[in-house]
Amino acid sequence: MSKVLVVMYSYTGTCRRLAQLLCSQQGWPMAEITEVSPRSGVLGTWRCLVDSWLRRSPAIRYVGPPPNEFDAVVLVAPIWAYRLASPMRSFVASRHGQLPDVAVVSVMGSRGAPNAVAEIGRLIGGSPILSTAFTTREVEDGSYAAQLQAFGTAVHTAEDTQAVVRPSIWSPQAV
Ligand SMILES: Cc1cc2nc3c(=O)[nH]c(=O)nc-3n(C[C@H](O)[C@H](O)[C@H](O)COP(=O)(O)O)c2cc1C
Repeated sequence: MSKVLVVMYSYTGTCRRLAQLLCSQQGWPMAEITEVSPRSGVLGTWRCLVDSWLRRSPAIRYVGPPPNEFDAVVLVAPIWAYRLASPMRSFVASRHGQLPDVAVVSVMGSRGAPNAVAEIGRLIGGSPILSTAFTTREVEDGSYAAQLQAFGTAVHTAEDTQAVVRPSIWSPQAV
């Protein structure tokens, strides 16, 4: 069975709730990204927007196991100004060389997820294995739960299928 880690950043709590449900559905551990200078209030929201417009990478802290100990990471992050939330940009940009397979869950009011997936793809130098998006409303009313479960199962399947054909598994030295 493949090892999968959920890495989450959340500003107002929605992505945290989604990541917790995904972890409980699949039995996966969760890691969290926080900011060295946390945001709050109107100024904080303004900083989110400016960081997004300028594609900044703010200083972050990562609390969780080393991602390279896993077969895949599922990145869960909000959309800001039609782009990837800046703290997740910082995480991916600083660790792209050490990340295993990457899947992406975006949470948004209504629009911007494809831009975030494309940016993660540019940063890791290849497409994420899977991506999906939910609206804040879907997370709040709970209607996303079945689709989230299906996404988690698809990540499992993608990883287990790859494991079958990984050269190291087939290599005589590995036996
Ligand atoms: C500064 C800021 C900018 C946002 N920009 C967008 C946007 O461009 N498109 C969108 O659909 N939602 C946008 N949102 C809404 C968030 O993506 C959405 O509320 C998400 O659920 C927040 O996740 P969180 O609670 O985990 O921080 C924005 C929210 C904030 C705070």
